[in-house]
Amino acid sequence: MATIFDFSSRQVFVFGGTSGINLGIARSFARAGANVAVASRSQDKVDAAVAELVELGSDSRGYSLDVRDPEAVKTALATHSEYAAGIDILISGAAGNFPAFAKDMSANAFKSVIDIDLLGSFNVLSAALPYLVKPGASVINISAPQAYLAMPMQSHVCAAKAGVDMLTRTLALEWGPMGIRINSIAPGPIADTEGFRRLIPNEKIAEQTRRSVPLQRFGASSEIGDAAMFLCSDAAAYISGVVLPVDGGWSVAGASAAALAMAHKPQGK
Ligand code: HXC
Ligand code: NAP
Repeated sequence: MATIFDFSSRQVFVFGGTSGINLGIARSFARAGANVAVASRSQDKVDAAVAELVELGSDSRGYSLDVRDPEAVKTALATHSEYAAGIDILISGAAGNFPAFAKDMSANAFKSVIDIDLLGSFNVLSAALPYLVKPGASVINISAPQAYLAMPMQSHVCAAKAGVDMLTRTLALEWGPMGIRINSIAPGPIADTEGFRRLIPNEKIAEQTRRSVPLQRFGASSEIGDAAMFLCSDAAAYISGVVLPVDGGWSVAGASAAALAMAHKPQGK
């Protein structure tokens, strides 16, 4: 797959980069010449992702860790930065999601998503700061439309991703003077991903969702990779603190997207 971007010899670290959208981003950077490290909980997923990225020509390494464990995140970043001599591009995309009404969630259920998505992002970003190349490093948080569209059965994800986007904007203020840019990407419904399978469980809902996207199709992980490469490239050198929807115009639909989620399962009495 040809790309207009050149990230030769750049060091990229993708948290949650072993499947779905984040692995798509990792592949995009590897195809553009970067050396891409990935981290997630499952050692098997880490090994498979690293093997695939090496196949694409990347000098890749993998780390098995939970982003909820700040010490494990710090250790992986320190180990990797010593090997790679710093990190040029950081992607924070580890996340969890399950559809559930707030009334059916325990405090621990709500907390599990906040801990992975929001606190996990803080753990990753704060531990990476000493190793980010200054000036010049670029950081992407993977957000979701839930950050700005209220959706039933997504109170935990809506709260967590809205927090992630405010982290993006706050750190753009705090890290800008060091020459570090930080942005969020909010993917729309992306085909063949775990998030899609969890939220769009049957053909009927899939077809309704497809029609609610102005471009009338689902996205591909490679299209999120293209957006990430743009935001980390010199073409975006003056862009920091933005939340970029990459969703075929889906977020423009706003309330109708939420109505769709509502149709997924009627709220009980
Ligand atoms: C209510 C639930 C539940 C459900 C879990 N819980 N599933 N509650 N309804 N369907 C509760 C559990 O009972 C428990 O609470 C608490 O949540 C934590 O569950 P664990 O299984 O112990 O947590 P853990 O093993 O840490 O797993 C985290 C997880 C899991 C989020 C629950 O699903 C996971 O690891 N997901 C990672 C993969 C993923 O979700 N990918 C999709 C990302 S897509 P109690 O009280 O019993 O202890 C995305 C946005 C997509 O983020 C947007 C698309 C448009
Ligand atoms: P996915 O394949 O499940 O990706 C999640 C990744 O994060 C996996 O690599 C997973 O690997 C890792 N992960 C999960 N919990 C972790 C933890 N506690 N510590 C470390 N790593 C962890 O799902 P996806 O659908 O592609 O989602 C990827 C990103 O895109 C997420 O940020 C999601 O919110 C966002 N998003 C997705 C969609 C969509 O349509 N799919 C839409 C909008 C936004 P392990 O299981 O090995 O840990």
